[in-house]
Amino acid sequence: MQILFYSPDNKPEPWLAGLAQALPEASLQVWQDGMTATDVQPADYIVAWKPPAAMLAGHPGLKAIFNLGAGVDAILQLGDALPPNVPLVRLDDAGMAVQMAEYATYAILRHFRRFDDFELQAQQQQWGFLKPNDKADFSVGILGLGVLGSRIAAAVQHFGFPLRGWSRSRKDLPGVACFAGDGELDEFLSGTRILVCVLPLTAETTHILNRSTLEKLPKGAYLINIARGAHVAESDLLALIKSGHLAGATLDVFRNEPLPRQHPFWQEPRISVTPHISALTLRENSINQIAGKIRALQRGEPIAGIVDQSKGY
Ligand code: NAP
Ligand code: GLV
Repeated sequence: MQILFYSPDNKPEPWLAGLAQALPEASLQVWQDGMTATDVQPADYIVAWKPPAAMLAGHPGLKAIFNLGAGVDAILQLGDALPPNVPLVRLDDAGMAVQMAEYATYAILRHFRRFDDFELQAQQQQWGFLKPNDKADFSVGILGLGVLGSRIAAAVQHFGFPLRGWSRSRKDLPGVACFAGDGELDEFLSGTRILVCVLPLTAETTHILNRSTLEKLPKGAYLINIARGAHVAESDLLALIKSGHLAGATLDVFRNEPLPRQHPFWQEPRISVTPHISALTLRENSINQIAGKIRALQRGEPIAGIVDQSKGY
C-alpha cells in the first residue's frame, strides 16, 4: 500500500514516523514542491493539507484523499484537478472539538464578564467597578451545528447562557433553540447577542457575515469567528464596530493570513486577534483516525467523514 503525504505547515518526519507505526505495511512517500507525477509511485491513499494540483495527478488506483483538517475549502478549490469518484475525507473532530469549545468558552466569558473592559482599564492602571452583564440578555448563537458547533453548544450550556444554533438541516439539541436554512437566519440573528461562527466555507457561506446580516444582530452584539476569514466582509465588520452597533469581535481567521501588518483590525482595541489557532490538527489523534479509516477501507467497510462535494463540506 502506497501513501503519499504533503503538509506545508508541518515537518513531514514525525508524521511519517507516526503513519509507519500505525500502518507498518504501508510504503510512505513525501510530495515535495516542484515534483511531478513521475517522481513518485502511484498512491493508494493521499494524506495532505492544501495539496498542490500536481500532487493529485497520476494515481490510477487512488482509494481516498485524507484532508489534514476539518475544513475542505482549500482542497475543493482545486476543482477539476481533484480526481473524480475518489472519496475526500475530512478530519472528524480528531481532538479539535474540545479545542473549539475551549476557545469559544474563553471568548464568550471574557466578553460577558467584561474582562476585555477590565483589561483596558488595567492598561490605564484604573481600579473601577463595571456593571455586570445580565446573562438573560446574553444569548449565544452558534452558526453551524456540526461536529465542532455541537461540541461548543454542549460546553457553553454549562454556564447557563440562552443558546441558539443555525444549520442547513434542522437539529434537535436539548437546551438549544435550533434554526435551519436561509429562511430562519434573520430570526436566529435577531435574538443572538454573542455570535459564534463555525460554518464551513462554501459558495453559500462566503461573506455570510456582511453589513446586512450583522445589522440584524441586536445593538451591542459580539462576534467570535473561528471558521474561515472569508465568512466575514471585513470592512463591514469594522464599520459596525466603529459605529457602536457591534461591541467587538474575537477573530481567529482572516481573509489573508498571516493578517497583514497594516490591517486595521490590529489597531482596533475592540477586536482581539489570534493566529488561526482555535483548533489545531493534533498529530497523534489525526494519524490514529486516518489509519483506522484506511484499515476500514482496505476491509471494504464504510467510513465516516466523507465530504459531500456537491455541498462543499
Ligand atoms: P461539519 O461537521 O461539516 O458542520 C458544519 C455545520 O455547518 C453543519 O451543521 C451544517 O449544517 C452547517 N452548514 C453548512 N452550510 C450551511 C448553510 N449554507 N446554511 C446553514 N448551515 C450550514 O463541520 P465542522 O467539523 O463542525 O467544522 C466546521 C468548520 O470549522 C470547518 O469547515 C473549518 O472551516 C472550520 N475549522 C476552523 C478551524 C480553526 O482553527 N480556525 C479548525 C477546524 C475547523 P448541516 O448539519 O445541516 O449539514
Ligand atoms: C483548520 O482550519 C481546519 O480546517 O482543520
